[in-house]
Amino acid sequence: MVPEQLIGPELRLALRRLAKAVVIVTSKHDGVRHAMAATAVSELSIDPPSMLVCVNKSASMHPVLTTGAPFCINILHVSQEAMARSCSGVLKGEARFETGRWAQARSGIPYLLDAQAAIVCDHATALEFGTHSIFIGRVVEVHLAGEIDPLIYMDGGYCAAQALGKS
Ligand SMILES: Cc1cc2nc3c(=O)[nH]c(=O)nc-3n(C[C@H](O)[C@H](O)[C@H](O)COP(=O)(O)O)c2cc1C
Repeated sequence: MVPEQLIGPELRLALRRLAKAVVIVTSKHDGVRHAMAATAVSELSIDPPSMLVCVNKSASMHPVLTTGAPFCINILHVSQEAMARSCSGVLKGEARFETGRWAQARSGIPYLLDAQAAIVCDHATALEFGTHSIFIGRVVEVHLAGEIDPLIYMDGGYCAAQALGKS
């Protein structure tokens, strides 16, 4: 068996080939808004409507979601690369909300009005694994905007998705 420390670099190379839609995960705790760019996000099931997001324990979003706060998965449009950059370390805290049109979900957490879709979740459960936690949310609200043209992260960079055409 290949030791884990050797598999890591190979896994990184493999994951460069896994094209992922870029999202901004948003939440709010004690009246303070939080935002974080993410790609380790997935649909879980339609019944019950549920989503999951994997968050590094070192990210400022982690203690927020650990409180059981609701969260929103904002799927970015290809034109929103700058927002992905500011929400992945360039800006900190509330400054991440300086651009973009933000609205409030019924639970009070922020969602991005111009996102391709904003999927608002209530905290359902969480699971710790190594450096990360998986937060599972029950979907309580969905907002859609514009034509389908998501921002994609692949091979260490941002790009657009290209449809092959429908047959
Ligand atoms: C394209 C992209 C995808 C990312 N995906 C994730 C992710 O799925 N989970 C995660 O914890 N961090 C992810 N990150 C890193 C976080 O965005 C970054 O660590 C975080 O915003 C730093 O947060 P802090 O300054 O608020 O602690 C990603 C970064 C980029 C650029």
